Amino acid sequence: MSRIIDGKAIAAQIKEELKEEVALLGKDGVTVGLAVILVGDDAASSIYVNNKKKACEYVGIRSVSYELSKDTSQEELLALIDRLNHDDTVNGILVQLPLPAHIDEETVITAISSDKDVDGFHTESAGRLLVGKKGFLPCTPAGIIQLIRRSGFTIEGKECVVIGRSNIVGKPMAVLLLRENGTVTVAHSKTENLKEVASRADILVVAVGKPKFITADYVKEGAVVIDVGIHRLEGKKLCGDVDFDDVQEKAAAITPVPGGVGPMTIAMLMANCVEAAKR
Ligand code: GUN
Repeated sequence: MSRIIDGKAIAAQIKEELKEEVALLGKDGVTVGLAVILVGDDAASSIYVNNKKKACEYVGIRSVSYELSKDTSQEELLALIDRLNHDDTVNGILVQLPLPAHIDEETVITAISSDKDVDGFHTESAGRLLVGKKGFLPCTPAGIIQLIRRSGFTIEGKECVVIGRSNIVGKPMAVLLLRENGTVTVAHSKTENLKEVASRADILVVAVGKPKFITADYVKEGAVVIDVGIHRLEGKKLCGDVDFDDVQEKAAAITPVPGGVGPMTIAMLMANCVEAAKR
């Protein structure tokens, strides 16, 4: 029976630490401000944005939100970003993804000043991460490092397998694990013998986007399993990319869905906002 890594509790702990830091900054006259932009009325995105605003309120970050219609043009969105880039009360700018199809995400993300890129999605941030320079880290992979570390597991010298190669999770995850001196393999949809590759892992990070895809036969006895997926099954129950009940017996530790990686993403966004204000 494995240990369940309580992401909700670890995220709460991080938010508590940040709350104290924000209060101290406030005494020095430094405020922390986040601008959140949502385009369109995607239900899941609205929930995420609301959760981010609630976390800001808790930590003491001033959040301003811009809820724009789905017909907003790319030019209008870029003009808003330009205005926020020049607004000194705004330390961080977050554009919730996905954007409507007529707007180019890459153009929008790179229009955000890299000094305010609290999502860590800007190519400047990605480049800094790759070469080991200080910069904003993408929230989900940064949160996963915190989950592993704060649960008392070491990464150094360990076999780490990341399944998934997205710009937001898989690729930065691999670089962060490498930075922690892990031995890193990135597997993906074209990987041959995925079971064999995955079962080498002491630390297995799964971001494949398929519900309950990873079963016990992909997992080494005693591995730490981190599940990035989130899916709503018929009947409304949530599940991850990992078949939790099947894998739980074999892993040393596993993140649940919900309550694992998800809360950490928001906690790390708060951390990036505080970092942006300090700079
Ligand atoms: N859509 C899904 N996850 C994220 C995230 O972490 N940041 C932004 N901006 N959009 C998202």
